[in-house]
Amino acid sequence: MRIDILTILPELLDSPLRHSIIKRAQDKGLVEIHLHNIRDYSTDKHRSVDDYSFGGDAGMVMRIEPVFAAIEALKKERDYDEMIYTSPDGEQYNQQTANELSLLNNVLILCGHYKGIDHRIREHLITREISIGDYVLTGGELAAAVMVDSIVRLLPGVISDETSALNDSFQDGLLAPPVYTRPAEFNGWKVPDVLLSGNFRVIAEWQEQQAMERTQHLRPDLWSEKV
Ligand code: ADE
Repeated sequence: MRIDILTILPELLDSPLRHSIIKRAQDKGLVEIHLHNIRDYSTDKHRSVDDYSFGGDAGMVMRIEPVFAAIEALKKERDYDEMIYTSPDGEQYNQQTANELSLLNNVLILCGHYKGIDHRIREHLITREISIGDYVLTGGELAAAVMVDSIVRLLPGVISDETSALNDSFQDGLLAPPVYTRPAEFNGWKVPDVLLSGNFRVIAEWQEQQAMERTQHLRPDLWSEKV
């Protein structure tokens, strides 16, 4: 899979994409992630990427020319399965969307900024608009990082235990059961006896029960979709 990210702040994405599991996935050749600075496609002498909005509203708007030039340059190289724009008014991101996107070959993510972007980009070039939640970030970079992280960990070979991504919270519409490690008792706080029993059938039943109870209590919205 290849992911191209268009941004005016590539530095903001550097750290989340250059460490740990996401870095190893790139090193192993399981995913290519390319950051592109939109400013590099600006042709005016100040390399400007924003301008005042028509209609006189307060706030700057991302200009069409550099974004268009960046997208055109990338599109010349390959076809994109999806061209995503990050925005608080997009469809809400969830595990299902991450699953869908992880099956694609070429994805482009355009990070929104300022008050927004010249709407013609959204109308004519973007295929999908995604919000990571009902709150407003200063820009789309952190949203892009969240999406890329959740997509890349689903790619085959990225997480060593192949079953672990499938067992994630949300994959089956349930929250994950609690987990523990040694010591079996700390400060008088005990790990549930069943987990020490060595009986894997009973342990699996307990975990399923816990997953259902936690979902019912903590996320009744998810639970009601299941029953
Ligand atoms: N840009 C600003 N807020 C955002 C959000 N909630 N999701 C995606 N992109 C955004």
